[in-house]
Amino acid sequence: TYVVTDNCIRCKYMDCVEVCPVDCFYEGENMLVIHPDECIDCGVCEPECPAEAIKPDTEPALENWLKLNADFAKVWPNITQKREPPADAKEFDGVPGKLEKYFS
Ligand code: SF4
Ligand code: F3S
Repeated sequence: TYVVTDNCIRCKYMDCVEVCPVDCFYEGENMLVIHPDECIDCGVCEPECPAEAIKPDTEPALENWLKLNADFAKVWPNITQKREPPADAKEFDGVPGKLEKYFS
């Protein structure tokens, strides 16, 4: 599966939603997650994310992010259409430690 990681938080560009063939993104207030049981590993979302927040779970040290994606995909609503990203999305691109400060 692919997973959404830290840099999505408060960037939330939603370009990923437009390209996913199985609509497996779920929406929180400040970020999206991927449902690991629904993702078919096609990989098309990874290069579409302007924040480079999407990674294959074969990359090292992503266990915590995989768990976060799995847990919140169960409770957040499905998102199938891109909307306007946050007006200040660019200011948050690359800010470290967003999970601790801004996650919701
Ligand atoms: Fe969707 Fe493919 Fe990305 Fe999985 S890898 S979330 S199926 S676009
Ligand atoms: Fe987040 Fe990138 Fe999608 S910032 S909402 S994973 S396009």
